[in-house]
Order: sequence, then structure tokens, then C-alpha cells
Amino acid sequence: MPNNKNLIYVNKDKLEFHLTNQQVSYIFRIFEKSKQPEHLYFGKSIQNRPSFDFLIEREPRSSINLNEKDYTSSLEHTKQEYPGFGTTDFRYPAFELEYPEGDRVSNFAYDSYVIHEGKPKLKGLPATYTDSADEAQTLEIILREAHSDLRISLFYSIFEKRSLITRSVEFHNDGKEIVKLNHAMSMSIDFPDDDFDMIHLNGAWARENHIERQPLFKGVQSISSARGASSHIHNPFFALARPETTERQGEVYGFSLVYSGNHLGQVEVDTYNVTRATMGINPYQFQWKLQPDEAFQTPEVVMVYSDTGINGMSQTYHDLYRNRLARDPWKNQERPVLINNWEATYFDFNEEKIMEIAEKAKETGIELFVLDDGWFGERNDDSSSLGNWTENKAKLPNGIKGLSEKIHKLGLKFGLWFEPEMINKDAPLYQEHPEWVIHVPGKPMSPGRNQFVLDFSNPEVVDALFDQMDAILIDGKIDYIKWDMNRYITEPFSTRLPHDQQGELYHRYILGVYSLYERLLERYPDILIESCAGGGGRFDPGLLYYAPQAWTSDDTDAVERLKIQYGTSLVYPLSSIGSHVSAVPNHQVGRTTSLDMRSAVAYFGTFGYELDVTQLSEDEMNQMKAQISFFKDNRQLIHEGIFYRLKSPFEGNETAWMIVSQDRKEALVSFYQVLAHPNPSYSRLKLAGLEEDTLYSLDPDAEERFGSDLNTIGLLFSENERQRGHFWSRNGKSDFHSWIVKLTAKE
Ligand code: DGJ
Repeated sequence: MPNNKNLIYVNKDKLEFHLTNQQVSYIFRIFEKSKQPEHLYFGKSIQNRPSFDFLIEREPRSSINLNEKDYTSSLEHTKQEYPGFGTTDFRYPAFELEYPEGDRVSNFAYDSYVIHEGKPKLKGLPATYTDSADEAQTLEIILREAHSDLRISLFYSIFEKRSLITRSVEFHNDGKEIVKLNHAMSMSIDFPDDDFDMIHLNGAWARENHIERQPLFKGVQSISSARGASSHIHNPFFALARPETTERQGEVYGFSLVYSGNHLGQVEVDTYNVTRATMGINPYQFQWKLQPDEAFQTPEVVMVYSDTGINGMSQTYHDLYRNRLARDPWKNQERPVLINNWEATYFDFNEEKIMEIAEKAKETGIELFVLDDGWFGERNDDSSSLGNWTENKAKLPNGIKGLSEKIHKLGLKFGLWFEPEMINKDAPLYQEHPEWVIHVPGKPMSPGRNQFVLDFSNPEVVDALFDQMDAILIDGKIDYIKWDMNRYITEPFSTRLPHDQQGELYHRYILGVYSLYERLLERYPDILIESCAGGGGRFDPGLLYYAPQAWTSDDTDAVERLKIQYGTSLVYPLSSIGSHVSAVPNHQVGRTTSLDMRSAVAYFGTFGYELDVTQLSEDEMNQMKAQISFFKDNRQLIHEGIFYRLKSPFEGNETAWMIVSQDRKEALVSFYQVLAHPNPSYSRLKLAGLEEDTLYSLDPDAEERFGSDLNTIGLLFSENERQRGHFWSRNGKSDFHSWIVKLTAKE
């Protein structure tokens, strides 16, 4: 029987469940022998029918079965939805419980189901949401065990108009005994074949989110973090794409975890070519003591299906994360063009210098001034004062309040840097509470950037940091916070948690981080927060729920940024991608690129500058003014449009992408050439997403072209022609060139 929205069909006799909309279908049933959910299908939307039992694949096999004289009940040969440990399936499970008797064998069976209108909130965790209950429906499958008082709820949500399913799990202890949760993934799915490439985003500090793509092999392959943060190394995302899938064509499944801590995305291909994909909190170094009457909520995974290639998958993520993960008031509000003083001054500034930069920046059209690291305690380098969030009066004689007033008087908004989770040993807080630092008493503590991590699993620590930040924010009239986090967790041990709950530390830490974000936003709902972790060390959907933009990388070099931003765009919308124009020679790689090239890359994100404007020539100041005005004219298009990747920086010397407005009436195309070539060939850049029968006028070329020929033939140019772009540097043929074309539909 369909419910009133026709998003979830349930065959009550056969216990089959079909979640479907115009784009996607997700089908599973309850296996009558084990009473466990059996996966049947995930992919392109298919017609509903009374039963999908033709999808059941069941060969008699001489393996270990659930019953004697029964050769078709082995879970090893059953495609499952949320496999447990210890019976007839030897693949990696989705969860593992340790019972009071010491065994880890689970036998959960279907109990009942509930359909919720909309999407229930996840307790204490960020998640995608609905604005009104009629946008989505959620199926809750309840599993119970005969030999324990445990209950598992599997949540599946389907939005009416999105090609995705979200999943999460809640464990309940309804009994009187403590049970240990050793492994609690957010989802698991068994695909019937292994004809996939695994795509993921790999990196390191200053080279985040580089795209990796490899064919699956038989065995286990995974991406993960055990660093206490989602990390620079592996973004909490992977995709399974058909080998023939390209940017614009073919099938791909995306898996994105709405979480900022230790994670695991694992794909296991068994010897029968079944592909098990799981994702969730990394079980390594995790254990949760599930107390009587307690529930444990896993984070959410967003599973996107696209049959329009990798770009189609990205567009689905972009729209969801922009509109149903980012929250009001910033989700649809124009983000201010900012200037940040970090690469301009590092720690060496005073109020006078800051005001000089701010005044000059104001002339160019900048809207927000951000004071970065070094304004507090005795902080003149990276070895001191974190945890002491009081103004350094030697640098700022009028305090943050006084500086903020002056900046506001100029007509700029004012933003401030914090690194709330960290402490240096010279901070008074450390002297008072050395036990608030994550460490093992009596064992050495490893410094990272000379700092240590506060134990955010302890609510008293979170309270203390809230109070310190509140004292600054309350008088400072702060419009924006840059929340940084510059080291990973080592020596994981909390002096507050009992010995047998140390496995909870990493997860409780992230819950503490989320709770501080939530408290700050409750008190200061209009503040715009940009998250940061030494660049993109915690650029994940979990934090985008609180901080709708993130500093993508400490690497501000335009050429490096092509790869970083291109990779980041696989999952994250441009409105979340912090991108700034910085000085040359670039501080990370020493490269000198033109101001045009730097701005043309930085436009495609939350645009800003990170250089000493007082050092710019008049000509450069004029260029900066023109760039800011260009960005403001196109800001809405860039932040709310549909993004198409056209040429990959991972495949050659040229990169191109474009953004098309939702009504397809406007578009910006951007092309980048890293190195110049002598006597180059002609080339064509095929565009995408334009309305076929619409006539567009091209600026700066003053040509008129139909969407159909731009989509199928493209822009034709030789290197000489490229020079016609108005952001093209005029100094002849040289390296690092960019070219931007604006398309506007003719009325
Ligand atoms: C690392 C950040 O990524 C930089 O942008 C800057 O804020 C520094 N930290 C400050 O210490």
C-alpha cells in the first residue's frame, strides 16, 4: 500500500519495502528465514509492483547455513542491509555488540516498521533536514533480538525531489545490563556485482581533495581517519562508478558521511563479486558502553544515485548541502567578500597596521575584515596563548571592542579567528586545569604546532570555552568567526571518562565540538562561521551544518587551487568553498601567477583576499576593484547556480568549469591554462547545461550563440583568440592564464 505521498511502498504480506521518487528506487525485504533485512535494489527509479521477489538470488550452497538440512539460508550468500557479526556471514559486519556474557554474536530480527513524515532530527548530530514535512518521508525499520533487550532502528529517508537516500541507525538498550557497542556503521549495502571504480578524495595539508579513481579488486579497500578529525588525508566521501562513467555520463553512487570525526568508508568485494559498501564512525579505537535506557545514534550517510555521471552526483550533493544542510540565516544569503590578514601580516601586526589594511580594502569594495591568529594573550608566534582568549593589549590597545568599532565605522563587517579546541602550556587555563588536556597521565604528550588538544568530551571544558568566547563576542559585535583547528589528537585519553569508556573519547570529542557550535549559534544566530583545520583538515558535511563555508586549503596558489577546488567540488557546493586571492610569489609554493589568474580561480568559491593591500600598486588596486565588482555582479550565480566541471586539472595543462543559473538564463565559463605552449593547436571547449534553443550573448566576445551549439560544439579558440578574454593578461604569451566568458540569454 502506498502512503499518501507515494514515496514509500510497503508490501505488508511479503514484507517488502520500496522507497521511490521520479529519480531513484531503493528496495529491500525481510528474509523469511533469518528475519533480517535483505537488500534487493538501489539505483534508477523503477516502476513499483506488488512484489520484487524476482530480484532474490538464492543458490543452494554447501556453506554454513542458519538451519540444518537447509542450503539456502546462509547470510554469506544473502545481500544484506545491516549485517551483524557472528553467524553465517564472514564478511565485515555493519555492527558488532559485546554482550555481558562476553560473546559478540548478534541475531537481530525484524520487529516492525514506522513511516515518519519528513525527517526526524538526529539527536546531538548534524544532519540534512526538511523545511516542511511534506518534502520527504522516513522509513524506520525496528529490529530486536530474542536473547537481549536491545533494539536497532534503521532509518531511511527519501526526499520527493532528490536522487538520494539518507541512512542512519539508532541502537537502544531497553534492558538492565550494559552492552558494549564495538562497531556501529551508519549504513551497509550489498551491490550484486563488482563492476565499479572507487573514487575518493585524498590529500594532505596544502594539497587537499585530490581525486583518486581505481577499479575495485576482490578484497577490502577503504578510506578512513583515526586522527580525531575527518582529516586532510581522506575526505569522508567515496563513490562507486561504473568503469565507463565519465563526468557527464554513466552511473555512479556517492556516499558522504555527515560527520567530522574518525570515519571509515569501506568496500569489500567477496569471492562471488558481491560488493559490500559500508560507511560510518571508524570502528578502530571506538567502543561505546551502552547503558540501560541509553540510545546511541550514528551519523547520517547521504547516498546519491546518478545516471548522469559524476557531475550529476555532484549537483545532487550541491543542491542538498546548500539548501538542506546549511541553515538559516546564511544558507541563501550572499556571503561577504572578505579580506583576511593572515598572509598579509602573520603574527606581526598592531591596530594601526590592521586599520591601514582595512581602510585600503574598503576602497576596493571589500565587505568583511577578518582578524586572524595572534590577537590574544601573548601570541607572537605559534608557541603560545591558545586557550587564553583575552586581547593582546600591546597589539590592540583598544581591545577587540575598540578595533571592531573602528572597522564597523569604516562600513566593514568584522570577523575574528579562534581555535577553541586547543591550548598552549602557558595559558592560565592550562595552569588551572592540566587535566583538561587530552593525554595519558604519566606518559609523554606529543605537541603538534606546539599545542595540545582540550578534552571536548568533557562538558565542563566546553562550558569554559563558551564563556571565554562569549566574553569577546558579547562586546565585540563580531559578524563572522573563523574557527580553526590545527592539529590531530594523539595520546587519546580523557581523565574524566572511566577506564572502560575511553573508546568513547573521539566520538564524545566531536559531540562536544558540535555542542559548542550549537551554543554559539543559539546565542549569536546571525554570526557567519567559517570552519578551518589547517586548511581543509575538517572540510566535511558535519561542520557545514554549523559553518556553511570552510577554508579549503592553506595553499592559496592559483595552480594548486585548481586541483583542490575541482576535487572539493565533487561533493561540496561553491558557496562552501573558501577561496582567496593571495600575494605572489605564493607563500606555499613560491609561484608567481597573474592577479587575473588568481582571482579567476578564487571567484569560484566564497571569494576573498589574503594579502597586504597596502603594498599593491595603483594598477593592482584598480584590478582588485574591478575583480570585486565583477564578483558581486555574479555572486548569486556562482553561489546558487548549477556547477559543471568541463576539463580536469588532474588530466592535463588545462582546466575548465562553468556555472549556469537555475533558470539557465546566465552562465559563467572559466578556462585556465597552466603553462603556455608555442605554436599551439586549435581547441574547442564543449559547454554544458545551457538551454538548447536559447540564444546567448557572449561577453567579452560580443558573439551570439545558441545553447545547442555551445553544448554540442563548444567555444572555439586558438591561443590568440583566448587573449580576447577581458581577464586575460595582456603581456603576451606566458604561463598561468585564465579566461572567463559570461553568457546571457537574449530576451
Ligand atoms: C591555519 C589556517 O588554515 C590559516 O588560514 C591560519 O588561520 C593559521 N592557521 C593561523 O594560525
